Amino acid sequence: MKTLKVELADRSYPIYVGSGNLAKLPEMLKLFLSARRYILLSDKNVFVLYGAQLIDSCEEAGLHLQQIIVPAGEKSKSIERFTEVMTKMLKLGVSRDWVVLALGGGVVGDLAGFAAASFMRGLPFVQIPTSLLAQVDSSVGGKTGINHPLCKNAIGAFYQPKLVWIDIALLKSLPKLEVISGLAEVVKYGIIYSRDFFHFCETNIEQMLALDSDICTAAVYQCCAIKAKIVAQDERESGVRAILNFGHTIGHAIETVFGYRRIKHGEAVLLGMLAEAFMAVQLELLNPKEFDRIRQLLAQIPLQTSIAEISFADLFTAMKHDKKALDNRLRFALPKTIGEMIIVIVEKENLIADAFEFIQQNGWQRHKSVR
Ligand code: GLY
Repeated sequence: MKTLKVELADRSYPIYVGSGNLAKLPEMLKLFLSARRYILLSDKNVFVLYGAQLIDSCEEAGLHLQQIIVPAGEKSKSIERFTEVMTKMLKLGVSRDWVVLALGGGVVGDLAGFAAASFMRGLPFVQIPTSLLAQVDSSVGGKTGINHPLCKNAIGAFYQPKLVWIDIALLKSLPKLEVISGLAEVVKYGIIYSRDFFHFCETNIEQMLALDSDICTAAVYQCCAIKAKIVAQDERESGVRAILNFGHTIGHAIETVFGYRRIKHGEAVLLGMLAEAFMAVQLELLNPKEFDRIRQLLAQIPLQTSIAEISFADLFTAMKHDKKALDNRLRFALPKTIGEMIIVIVEKENLIADAFEFIQQNGWQRHKSVR
């Protein structure tokens, strides 16, 4: 098992990356946290797969564990579901000496993290991410929260976990579309921060798609190491952390137009990265040869969703409502070269329109369906 640390003074915490290590978590909890009482928050799909294993190993280790299971899917990041979780925690008698365990993908991690941040003004929590996307992104860095009907992630807190426990073996049960979605975020780290890691992705994209254990362990570790460095510099996204939003200004708008149902987050981010890299070329920030490398790598990730039916007018309206827009001015994290980013305010609507036309024409090839 490999370890790294997010350095945030008294809120620092370790990330463990291994394969087949879920059963060892309770021993680590005993060593690392003094609590004996835990509330496990998971979704139905993940709980069916891994809940019993975690409960058994906790009991063997002498830890008391209660569970709250929510439906799978983005809808569980709602105000109603959050209230229900609070009610269940109160009825179970949870108090400040309990610890929240978040077992699941990004939705569970965000909901459980926010529940931990809010309940009795804050309980410790542990992230146990089970999707590739959550392992490389949402479980690290302390962004927790829920959606408001008017805006995704509008209600939340920066609240760091005490520990992130990553078991690569859990990815084996992931639907292929989730792997594809997670891989877009993996490649993002190469583009925004590291030419070496970008090259690693170019060399190993097939093995990553096939979930090769050693390659995935190395990739997830690298992504977490990059994210840990960025978060350590800028926990609350007042500076460098914004580079993690590469592909997200356009990507989030695509998700919004699709009502967060018909496209996976990573697919939308992949298309957003392609569009935003295209904009960087138009602005003469990025060399066309570098753009070609980015385009060729992204083309190897088999997107499943076409955006042909989206209109630019709808996309643009969604972009202006995004919480990344400042005073209605659109901010983009754009690549200057592979491994280096710049934050740019873009005022020209036609630049974005051209980039959107580019991805509508070039972003999606008909790959073999994995749905
Ligand atoms: N997912 C982007 C961030 O954590 O800042």
